[in-house]
Amino acid sequence: MNNRSEFSSKLGFVLAAAGSAVGLGNIWRFPYLAAKYGGGLFLLMYVFFVVTFGFAIMTAEIAIGRKTQLSPIGAYTALNKKYGFIGVIASLVAFLILPYYSVIGGWVIKYFVTFLTGGQASTAQDTFFTSFIASPIEPVLWQILFVLATLAVVLKGVKDGIEKASKILMPVLIVLSVVVAIYSITLPGAMEGVKYFLIPDFSRFSIQSVLAALGQMFYSLSLAMGIMITYGSYLKKEDDLEKSVKQIELFDSGIAILAGFMVIPAVFAFSGGDEAALNAGPGLMFVTLPKVFNTMGMSTLVGSAFFLLVLFAALTSSISLMEAVVSTVCDQFKLERKKASILVAVTAVILGIPSSLGNGIWSEFKILNMNFLDLMDFITNAVLMPIGALLTCIFIGYVIKVKVISDEVKISSKFKREKVFTVMIKYIAPMCIVAILVTSVLSALGLLTL
Ligand code: PHE
Repeated sequence: MNNRSEFSSKLGFVLAAAGSAVGLGNIWRFPYLAAKYGGGLFLLMYVFFVVTFGFAIMTAEIAIGRKTQLSPIGAYTALNKKYGFIGVIASLVAFLILPYYSVIGGWVIKYFVTFLTGGQASTAQDTFFTSFIASPIEPVLWQILFVLATLAVVLKGVKDGIEKASKILMPVLIVLSVVVAIYSITLPGAMEGVKYFLIPDFSRFSIQSVLAALGQMFYSLSLAMGIMITYGSYLKKEDDLEKSVKQIELFDSGIAILAGFMVIPAVFAFSGGDEAALNAGPGLMFVTLPKVFNTMGMSTLVGSAFFLLVLFAALTSSISLMEAVVSTVCDQFKLERKKASILVAVTAVILGIPSSLGNGIWSEFKILNMNFLDLMDFITNAVLMPIGALLTCIFIGYVIKVKVISDEVKISSKFKREKVFTVMIKYIAPMCIVAILVTSVLSALGLLTL
């Protein structure tokens, strides 16, 4: 077991874990949710959840990984033989997310290349996005490219692949985010958008907005899918675990907030303050934003910079997804790393194809009124992830007991927030997770309108 790979430093670990956390969730999902659920109010709730539940669950996962030095299935089994199945659920979530995440990653490459080659005028057309994602072949080719880029890093291993890539991609991502955010907030008319994003409008408070903020927090911090367990298993015993969690969270919320600054004020400036433009939902990044860039100065530069940073964010997340699956396959099936990586990449391409075709030639095929990509997103994020998170809380709180985790954290940290941690894991997090699970399933079944 001693030859398990390790991150060479705490910084390497933090950047890689932050790389996992910072992804499409921050840049694509967070701004449109914030726009939809009352701007500053959503932001406030989100940050609150990050420092409470997010902190507790992330600490628990990293500690489980570091304690057992194993990937999720082995880790849960090592702690209690009967509970290896929680690890199976976690690995399954990562395994199912990777294919459709790469489909969206492929779209991002396409946008980046289009902007870079000066084709932004075409991206601003209403039909550009829908006709691109509906075509049978092209998105699949971009998806394959995205998977290959991910594979190239994972093949090189933890230190030379993941850690090195994160150390380059993450700083570039921060710099580009700051530049694009400054550009966006200095546009004429953008200040209204800044206000909208920062000042909480309490009249917009609703149960849905609370649940959306909670769900976003889980997704954005890459929780309950075995990723933090896997990365934690590469963390050295002497590296401060509590501090690392804080830094990862700061990174993740920081980039989400910057993304809010990049997107919301620019859309406000573009629409002349008309809030309706913000209601584009998932299309905000792929449909509205290109239009916004296209009407402004330096569109080739700003647009390419923006999609490059999105691409980097998406890549470091898909690297973590692939790593979690590869590490599980290696540990469980005693397969060599290289073979496991190639196997996982090929599977991701094949399983991703239905998610791509579901936007076009297979769009007739719907389950619960969702196309394949939305269905996969729903099963993983709205069903399996909360179930995994709930089981994790119960497992730690009531089966192995919180002390096992606290002791692991205390090897390297004072664990100042031990009390918050205990209360969250045992009582508050499980209740909230049940609430997310019930509402999302009911609304998918059409029994509840959100
Ligand atoms: N946390 C990533 C994001 O914000 C998403 C992700 C989900 C990454 C699942 C890995 C696994 O985009």
